[in-house]
Amino acid sequence: MTFEAMWRDLVPVGRSATSGGYRRSPWTSLEAELRAWFAEAALARGLEVETDAIGNQVAWWRPTTPTELPAVLTGSHLDSVHDGGAFDGPLGVVSALAAVDVLRDRGFEPTRGIGVSVFTEEEGSRFGLACLGSRLVTGATTWEAVRRRQDRDGIYLDDAVSAAGLDPTGDLMSLSDVGCFVELHVEQGRDLVDRDVAVGVASEIWPHGRYRFDFTGEANHAGTTRMEDRRDPMLTYAMTALAANKQARLCDQRATFGRLEVTPNGTNAVPSHVTAWLDARCSDDASLADLVETITRQSHDRASRDGTALTVTAESVSSSVTFDPDLARSLAALGDWPVIATQAGHDAGILSAAGIATAMLFVRNPTGVSHSPDEHAETVDCLVGVEALADTLTMLAS
Ligand code: GLV
Ligand code: MN
Ligand code: MN
Repeated sequence: MTFEAMWRDLVPVGRSATSGGYRRSPWTSLEAELRAWFAEAALARGLEVETDAIGNQVAWWRPTTPTELPAVLTGSHLDSVHDGGAFDGPLGVVSALAAVDVLRDRGFEPTRGIGVSVFTEEEGSRFGLACLGSRLVTGATTWEAVRRRQDRDGIYLDDAVSAAGLDPTGDLMSLSDVGCFVELHVEQGRDLVDRDVAVGVASEIWPHGRYRFDFTGEANHAGTTRMEDRRDPMLTYAMTALAANKQARLCDQRATFGRLEVTPNGTNAVPSHVTAWLDARCSDDASLADLVETITRQSHDRASRDGTALTVTAESVSSSVTFDPDLARSLAALGDWPVIATQAGHDAGILSAAGIATAMLFVRNPTGVSHSPDEHAETVDCLVGVEALADTLTMLAS
C-alpha cells in the first residue's frame, strides 16, 4: 500500500462530520481501531508487532543476520488533541511505514533492527500529562505516579487502561536495545514555508508546561447581588488571561489559556469556581519559570482584590531539549535541509532527554496552522518527507 493509500485509509477514522477535526483519545474504542489499523499495516509488511502494557506499539523489521547492534526506532503517535488535525502524529507513523516500503523497493537490507513505533497519549489530551506513553517507557515518570490521574469524567488512568483490554501492570516497551530515534512530524509553524523548503530538521524544543489555575469565589445570584458584594472568580480568571497574554508578548514568549471549566456554569449565577489551564512555552527554562511566576503573582494580586482564592498546580512540565547536534547535521546534509527550532512538544524530546540519540524531520505545513482541523501538508511534500526518512534510515541502519 502506498503512502497515499495508507493515508486515505486512516483519514476517516474518528473525523468529525461537522468540524472535520479529530478526537482520537487514548484508551477509547477509536484508539483500539487505530491500533488495529497499525498492526494490520505492519503485519502486511511482514513486520513483527508488539503492543505493551499501556498500548504503546512497535513493529520490527529485523535484519536477516541477527546482530547485537542497537536498533533504530522511527515513528510518532496516532492520538490527537480535541478537534485536532489529521497530520499531527499520524504523518510520522504513515511516513515510517512508507519509508520501509521505499527501502525495500531500493533493495536495502538493514544491518540492525528498524522499529516503527507509536506512543500512546502523546498529546496528554485525556490525562493532562504530555507524552505519557514515552515518559513511562523511558522512566521519566512511573506508573505509580500517574495511575490515579483522572480524565474530565473522573475516570482513573489505571481503570481506563484496563477497560481498553490492556494490563497496565504488565511489561512496557523496552528501549534498552534502541540506539537512536527519529520522529517525522508535520511542521507546526511557518518556518519552512517562509524558507520555501519542503523538509527541515529539528535543532531543539522549547521548554513548556501546563499549569492548572483554580480560582475559588462565592456562588450568588446574578441579579440581586450588588456588584461590590461579589467574590467572582471569573473576574480573577479574566484578568489572569489578559496578564498572561501581555507578559508573554513583553518577553517574546508564549502563554495561552485554552481550556476553562466553570462551576456551576449558569448564565444567571456568579460562579463559585473557575478552573483554567495555562500552557506556557519559552526559549529557555529560566524564562519559563519567570513567566509562570509573574503571571501567578499578578493573578494572586488580583485575587486579593476580588476576594477570591487561587491555587496553581503544575500538571505537565517539559524542560528544554537540544537534539543530538551531530545527528541533526548529518540529517540536514542528506538534503541540504535547514535546522530549525520548535515550540511544540514531542515524544522525541522525551527520548532525547532519556539519553537516546534523537532527531526530528519536519514536513512543510502551508499555513502553519496546527492543533486544528485546518492543519495540512501537501502530498508532494509528504512524499519528500518519506524519501528523507528513508535516506535517514539508510544512513542509520547500514
Ligand atoms: C503537543 O503537540 C504540544 O506541543 O503540546
Ligand atoms: Mn500535537
Ligand atoms: Mn505530535
